[in-house]
Amino acid sequence: MASFKEKIKNLLPQKLMYMYYLNTAKKASMYDLRRRVHDKVYNDSHIEKVKRDLALAYHIVEKGLTMPEPRPGFGKAVVFSLIGTVEKYQNLNLPLEDMEFVQSVSVLKEYLEFHQEINFKLDEALEKKLTDLNEKFKNVEGLKQIKITRKEFFGDKNKSFDQFCKSRYSVRNYTKEEVPLPLLYECIDLAQRSPSFCNRQPNRVHIVKSKEQKEGILNIQNGNRGFGHLAETLLVITSVVSTTKDIHERFENHLNGGLFSMTLLNALHFNEIGACSLNWSVSDDKDMKLREVIEVPENEVVLMIIACGYLPEEFAIASSPRKTAREITVAH
Ligand SMILES: Cc1cc2nc3c(=O)[nH]c(=O)nc-3n(C[C@H](O)[C@H](O)[C@H](O)COP(=O)(O)O)c2cc1C
Repeated sequence: MASFKEKIKNLLPQKLMYMYYLNTAKKASMYDLRRRVHDKVYNDSHIEKVKRDLALAYHIVEKGLTMPEPRPGFGKAVVFSLIGTVEKYQNLNLPLEDMEFVQSVSVLKEYLEFHQEINFKLDEALEKKLTDLNEKFKNVEGLKQIKITRKEFFGDKNKSFDQFCKSRYSVRNYTKEEVPLPLLYECIDLAQRSPSFCNRQPNRVHIVKSKEQKEGILNIQNGNRGFGHLAETLLVITSVVSTTKDIHERFENHLNGGLFSMTLLNALHFNEIGACSLNWSVSDDKDMKLREVIEVPENEVVLMIIACGYLPEEFAIASSPRKTAREITVAH
């Protein structure tokens, strides 16, 4: 029998219900939004932001160095900006041994070395800045990008959990060989082993293989330049919002999707399929455009995309160093 609350609900016009829930949702979301807007506007997390800018920029250069065909002179504006942030970091007298700083300097040195090796004349001002930096930080050594064979890359996939974990990297280079659908279903079945809230299993996967559809999606995604076009398959990961009951569960779609996607990445690696996550941090109009390219039900929110495919004999991967557990942990 319907509860009193249900009976009242059923009596109300849908439009009124809509306005009521919209208002509740706005109120709840403001709690989170205020924290974000405060963080954006006020400078009390200044150091985190300088480190963020270092990581954002060094990662773009790191990726550039590992592209299937790195373009000589690539990323000039980003490299200038990274040097600027490195200088800003130093002026703030922040610790020179922190991962973001070490890797930024190291990547800039590697960028210079790469261009020297291929005898490419860099922009004069840029070359001067890089040479000075190289001189100043002779002893700073982060992780260099890794050249690896396919055999080596998958060499630890049947070893212990720790070895398996350490062997997975994002790969941004794929062959044209078709990844069979049944194998993708196997990987998705493994990903389904991920925990989910009350076992509600909100995740969905849209497998995209047609050239036109892949192009349509990749054209509106901002992190696949230089390699996206090689992806044999795109896996668009979505989550059903109707699996959440009230507004306080609004983060569950993304949270559950993160757990699911990680297992899926591991499953792909286990099945010797190379993969790279692609962010879907996009504006509304881009999200709507994606829905014109492939049909995604209105009650599904798009979380991220995974580009994947079989790997060539040899390729390069970005080293993407990690902070240690001690650096990111507070033992209360
Ligand atoms: C949610 C998410 C979004 C990402 N988006 C992109 C992207 O748009 N383009 C890209 O090349 N890599 C992307 N990556 C891959 C990260 O750069 C990569 O996971 C990180 O540098 C760590 O390296 P690893 O995956 O090799 O361990 C993304 C990763 C995650 C988890």
